[in-house]
Amino acid sequence: MNILNELSKTVQEAFNNADLNDEPIILKASSNPDFGDYQINGVMGAAKKLKTNPRELAARVAEQLKQSPVFEKVEVAGPGFINLTLSTDFIEKNIQTALSDNRLNVGLPENNQTVVMDYSSPNLAKEMHVGHLRSTIIGDALHRVLRFLGANVIAQNHVGDWGTQFGMLVAYLVEQQKIGNENIALTDLEQFYRNAKVRFDEDAQFADTARQFVVKLQSGDSEVLKLWQYFVEISLQHAQNIYTRLNTLLTPENVRGESFYNKDLQPTVDELLAKKIARIDNGTKLVDLPNFPERDGKTPVFIVQKQDGGFLYASTDMACLRFRVNELHANRIAYVVDARQSLHFAALFAVCRQADWLPESVIAEHIAFGTMLGKDGKPFKTRSGDTVKLADLLDEAVSRASKIVQEKNPDLSTEKVQEIAQVVGIGAVKYADLSKNRTSDYVFDWDNMLSFDGNTAPYLQYAYTRVASLLRKAEGCVSGSLKIKDTAEHRLAVCLLQFEEVLSSVATSSCPHYLAAYLYQVATLFSHFYEHCPILSAEDSVKASRLQLARLTGNTLKQGLNLLGIEVLDTM
Ligand code: ARG
Repeated sequence: MNILNELSKTVQEAFNNADLNDEPIILKASSNPDFGDYQINGVMGAAKKLKTNPRELAARVAEQLKQSPVFEKVEVAGPGFINLTLSTDFIEKNIQTALSDNRLNVGLPENNQTVVMDYSSPNLAKEMHVGHLRSTIIGDALHRVLRFLGANVIAQNHVGDWGTQFGMLVAYLVEQQKIGNENIALTDLEQFYRNAKVRFDEDAQFADTARQFVVKLQSGDSEVLKLWQYFVEISLQHAQNIYTRLNTLLTPENVRGESFYNKDLQPTVDELLAKKIARIDNGTKLVDLPNFPERDGKTPVFIVQKQDGGFLYASTDMACLRFRVNELHANRIAYVVDARQSLHFAALFAVCRQADWLPESVIAEHIAFGTMLGKDGKPFKTRSGDTVKLADLLDEAVSRASKIVQEKNPDLSTEKVQEIAQVVGIGAVKYADLSKNRTSDYVFDWDNMLSFDGNTAPYLQYAYTRVASLLRKAEGCVSGSLKIKDTAEHRLAVCLLQFEEVLSSVATSSCPHYLAAYLYQVATLFSHFYEHCPILSAEDSVKASRLQLARLTGNTLKQGLNLLGIEVLDTM
């Protein structure tokens, strides 16, 4: 149950009864527990508009709210805030419901939505590097949350599998007479790619050949297609290994690369011309963007076809968006892509709206994110200044985690250390990213993310393990009815009831850090409760009640971390 929605209904009724039908109620969870559990801020605005005394108006609304069994305390504060404390009865009932439900009393508010989630989407023929990390894990967390809330989520891995880089590779392989060598590994390909790029830049004739191969590829030449197919396959196998290690939901079925839209590109551009949205300037086909801020003193343009007839990233994305609307029947299309592509997406959406390919009823959003920085504040690189390969980064995460686990628990077997290190190391990398506001840049810091204190994956994973061990010790005494008496119990319980409210806010804002902050709060409140309210040593009925709260805490941490794509362990 979404508590905020439930309470909003009650508050709306009180507003109506106080003749404030048209005024926004502005209800939110309190940031300070001294002010109760929720706070209404809408009265001041209403009073200003109606030119009445805000405190008197607040008192009138408060009188209405006091009739409701949902609240134990309703207090007018300051210039006209209303502080609300939930009643014990309401809390206990809802905790009981959550305990007997494997969805933890979370509803399916997104169940009429079809969401296309475009994430990861690396350019192929290269190994995946840190630049692909954020899209992959942010997109995956949003995928999980929306799916849990009932949406039909269609993940799309829009890999860059078409275009110049492949022509270059083919040209280089032909030149080096490596064709027919079926044992090329991706690391070799990377080296080939680098060499090919050098050849491309130094030798005009080579560059020409490479371009001809692109044309051959795009017109379906079977020899070139075969080579291309092979590159794509090994690149995708490598990507899938990374996805599995990262514990993401992506599978080969989600791959729908740029090449898929090849046949739709010309008709798409032609339609834009026919609709007089695009124009031809010196052979280049483009759309003017008069509503966009000027760049270098000029109106920006969206180029949809080059002078030589070649297509671009923009052309593919238009055809792709049409496919997502018409064939995948999306209500919402989310692109989890680096913030540096903001202009591209703003232009894409504007042009597609203008062309009537993107109806009003469909939401298109660019879920932008900032850059991963090193401790020096510059984009994260290896010591020698190269881009960091994802495979190496994940290896390092696990090896650092295993050192820490071993130090903490010298008696564990090597296998057990490895198992824990896997979960902790990968979890730490993911959580460090997901706990930050995605729109800002962040500093990638091994020591911080692997610390067992503070807002980190290891802290939350350990909190879960503590609950699990408590429940194991108490085996047999877990059933019994819940009685909220202590403030620490009250605060933890109210927080646990806010799970759906938080998940819904993640779904609408596409910001996974709300969920991370929530889980950290759950763990912190649990820790406080655990210190102040003895469990195993309490008398039977109190013990049983407190164990219920512990159980729901464990279930919430586990489910919440799972929605971030992070695993937990029963022992650590
Ligand atoms: N391959 C692109 C890149 O590496 C990202 C693609 C994002 N998705 C899209 N539909 N444009 O920059």
